[in-house]
Amino acid sequence: MTNAPIDATTTSAWAELESLKAGFTPDLRGWFAADPGRVAKLTHDVADLHVDLSKNLVTDEIVAALVRLAEQTGVAERYDSMLAGEHINTTEDRAVLHTALRRPADATPSLTVDGQDVDADVQGVLDAMAEFAGRVRTGEFTGITGKKVETVVNIGIGGSDLGPVMISAALEPYADAGISARFVSNIDPFDIASKTKDLDPETTLFIVASKTFTTLETLTNARLARDWLWEGLASAGAIDGSDEQKKDAVAHHFVAVSTALDKVADFGIDTANAFGFWDWVGGRYSVDSAIGLSLVIEFGPDTFRELLAGFHAVDEHVRTTPLAQNVPVLMGLLNVWYTNFLGAQSHAVLPYAQQLSRFAAYLQQLTMESNGKSVRWDGSPVTTDTGEVFWGEPGTNGQHAFYQLIHQGTRLIPADFIAFANPAYALTDGDRDVHGLFLANFLAQTKALAFGKTAEEVEAEGTTGALVAARTFPGNRPTTSIFAPSLTPTVLGELVALYEHITFTQGAIWGINSFDQWGVELGKQLAMQIAPAIEGDSDAFESQDSSTKALLEYYRDHRA
Ligand code: F6P
Repeated sequence: MTNAPIDATTTSAWAELESLKAGFTPDLRGWFAADPGRVAKLTHDVADLHVDLSKNLVTDEIVAALVRLAEQTGVAERYDSMLAGEHINTTEDRAVLHTALRRPADATPSLTVDGQDVDADVQGVLDAMAEFAGRVRTGEFTGITGKKVETVVNIGIGGSDLGPVMISAALEPYADAGISARFVSNIDPFDIASKTKDLDPETTLFIVASKTFTTLETLTNARLARDWLWEGLASAGAIDGSDEQKKDAVAHHFVAVSTALDKVADFGIDTANAFGFWDWVGGRYSVDSAIGLSLVIEFGPDTFRELLAGFHAVDEHVRTTPLAQNVPVLMGLLNVWYTNFLGAQSHAVLPYAQQLSRFAAYLQQLTMESNGKSVRWDGSPVTTDTGEVFWGEPGTNGQHAFYQLIHQGTRLIPADFIAFANPAYALTDGDRDVHGLFLANFLAQTKALAFGKTAEEVEAEGTTGALVAARTFPGNRPTTSIFAPSLTPTVLGELVALYEHITFTQGAIWGINSFDQWGVELGKQLAMQIAPAIEGDSDAFESQDSSTKALLEYYRDHRA
């Protein structure tokens, strides 16, 4: 049983925050000057992550009231319910147990949920992944002509794509088996065509990754990949095109990851070459399930275990740390403060690490599919705004694109800066350490956003007239700095888990089910109704609205 959500807006903490907001004038310069202890007070270490919250628009009183809000809305209790395997995903009547995917092999007491020995099953699949990946990496498992696999192509979308894509790029320096990974997700035929055109079918292994194994994009791309494989092998003379040889080719070049192993078999993939997971793993929380198979092949089982250990370290921090020092809880509370009290609508995530080029895209699914909701977990309407728009690009590229708006625009955009003391590749420009220069930019941006530049300071530099206003920086633009020694697998796991729990905290306060995604369904259904109209079915055409009809006509007129 899941309790009815507590309406955050009816709590005394919410009322307190409303009144603090009423008389609120942000003043980071003043707050820093008045309180030499501010940085120490608002800096926390969680596992390897050093998190400086001091440049956020909060006072001690606001932080205390936010912590009370978490207490009064039962954030800790909801976390306990999740860990215990309660069916907190009410609309799908499921437990939410992605945290179980990264429990250590020797975790005690063992976790049994709904009669399932969760720990044993998780470890069993991890071992099977390690065993298979080991054979691929050493060349014991080969393509049909006996050649070692050189490229793994993961076919999946959403949670069956974004995590592996993001982590594959982030951990690029750890690839150690001469195997590279590619990712096909979009049903736009350009995606698979461009990603396979220079590949050799004899050295390519496809992973079809789909929790449900019903997703249109993934199954279409999997069929296209299978045709590409058969055609390529036939034209190389490797198979003769008989059904038996085609089946053999699939066995050597296709594996699957899914919760629906019956559907994997229907597709023609031997379930001996399939890796399972469970309905209590949400798609956007699944990268540390078998969905991470491409990563285990690219980087090896040990690196994957290090990644999981990072996730687990943050899970443990959340489980055991009081709310007032609980870093993901505090960061979630800050987001609530900005969203519900200061009117922020978006949140930038700005990694100073080129390897995290896909981190914002990954977070978009995590945060926006989780918290983009208008009803609470009991079906009642939400009582306040929910999910922000998450977006971002790695620094310094973003500096030369959209930072202008963050510095001097009219909107409040809280931003998380993520940086690492050590580079993946240490390079020098003359005698200058390039990574040091990179980090100087990270520090400069967070400083400029917080403290700005006053008109007096601008004038003191000799600027006059209208230029003074143009060159003035208001400051009081909130940032969080997340610093870590290096972007290791463990640190990456910690970082992702940090955002999972920030998302969880916000969902718990808003009383929403962060684990379903009904909002993606309508478009999928309509696409299947419109597809016949595209193909020329007149009844399907006539049943459309006038705008859709006009667009269909445009398509018919212009399709070559
Ligand atoms: O369309 C949304 C979604 O259901 C995501 O939540 C999920 O990650 C993605 O589609 C892919 O689903 P599947 O893994 O079942 O193919």
